[in-house]
Amino acid sequence: MEACNTWPEISEDKLLNLIRKELVKQSDRFNKFRDFEPESYGKRDLSILGYGNFYFSRTWTAMTYAFGEAIHLRGWVPPKKGPIRILDLGSGTGASGLSCLHMIRSLGIDNHIQLEAVDYSSKSLAFLKKLHSAKKELWSDTRVTTTRLDLKYPSEENYRKKYDLIILGYSLNELLDDKEQDDPEECYKQVLHSIPAQLKSNGLAVITEPAQSNLCHLLQQSSAEVSKTDKDLHLHAPYFNGMQCPLAESNSKFFSHEVRKTLPLATVEKINRPLNLEIREVKFGLSMLGYAIPRNLGNSYQVCRLISPLKKRKGTVSFIGMAAEKITDPLASSILL
Ligand SMILES: C[S@@+](CC[C@H](N)C(=O)[O-])C[C@H]1O[C@@H](n2cnc3c(N)ncnc32)[C@H](O)[C@@H]1O
Repeated sequence: MEACNTWPEISEDKLLNLIRKELVKQSDRFNKFRDFEPESYGKRDLSILGYGNFYFSRTWTAMTYAFGEAIHLRGWVPPKKGPIRILDLGSGTGASGLSCLHMIRSLGIDNHIQLEAVDYSSKSLAFLKKLHSAKKELWSDTRVTTTRLDLKYPSEENYRKKYDLIILGYSLNELLDDKEQDDPEECYKQVLHSIPAQLKSNGLAVITEPAQSNLCHLLQQSSAEVSKTDKDLHLHAPYFNGMQCPLAESNSKFFSHEVRKTLPLATVEKINRPLNLEIREVKFGLSMLGYAIPRNLGNSYQVCRLISPLKKRKGTVSFIGMAAEKITDPLASSILL
């Protein structure tokens, strides 16, 4: 364990407790205080290790589901020739970016891949590089470059290159931290609006966010706004045929988010024992934007996104689904097994 190597003088039990305390702090920061300064976050080894041993596998899994959907349902394809270029904004130690490298290789796609990771935490970026070179067998023929940058103050320089894939894994919301920022929401939108200019014509921006009502509504509302501002840009997910999220449109008490199964790693289980947090599900808000015309998935009720839990009772599975055509009332559906 990395923690034992970093602090050989501290016993494993004591380290586990330190990591647990750190996780409670991180969870409060994500859910209550929302103070995302470099000093309080990616600058300390313990905070990076806490994140790495607990949240990393979950943001990795969320991006695996999201990018899997981009490939298998939304028609993302690698360029015919040349490298796949990926930009990871707010990369941290690389959970989301590295999960994309891993998925591309697992699918047998063999283009060279260039991952450009951007974060304001140089410690996190250094860790990402270390991880990338320590596990080369998971992502052969890939190159990682890192840029230390505060996304709240992007430079013109950053908009020159074009990417096949731009990802933001649980990072966009951190720009809403309202300390020292006149209008955090404006800054959030500015970043979101700047993304399409960096996409290739076939490229996709894939964004995952924590599953909190205000963040998910804001993600869906802002994604819709960006796609309306640029008539060539389309919303590819979470719904169909460029449709925006009706729940966000009507500021519903329900909010669009994914709930998927995940198998916790042994370390996550061990750390979590006294914390008793939910570790068998990952929850995330999702949005995808791109210039290609969204793949036509039909207009009938047969294609829909599940937006409720599945209930199984006496041979009947029931759920609520949002169908491909824009309908404002969710469709109540049930199927017989
Ligand atoms: C919740 S972590 C997510 C990390 C990673 N994307 C993942 O999937 O696990 C959010 C990341 O955003 C970075 N971040 C937050 N605000 C930022 C800013 N203004 N500029 C650059 N990076 C920022 C943090 O340093 C942190 O690494």
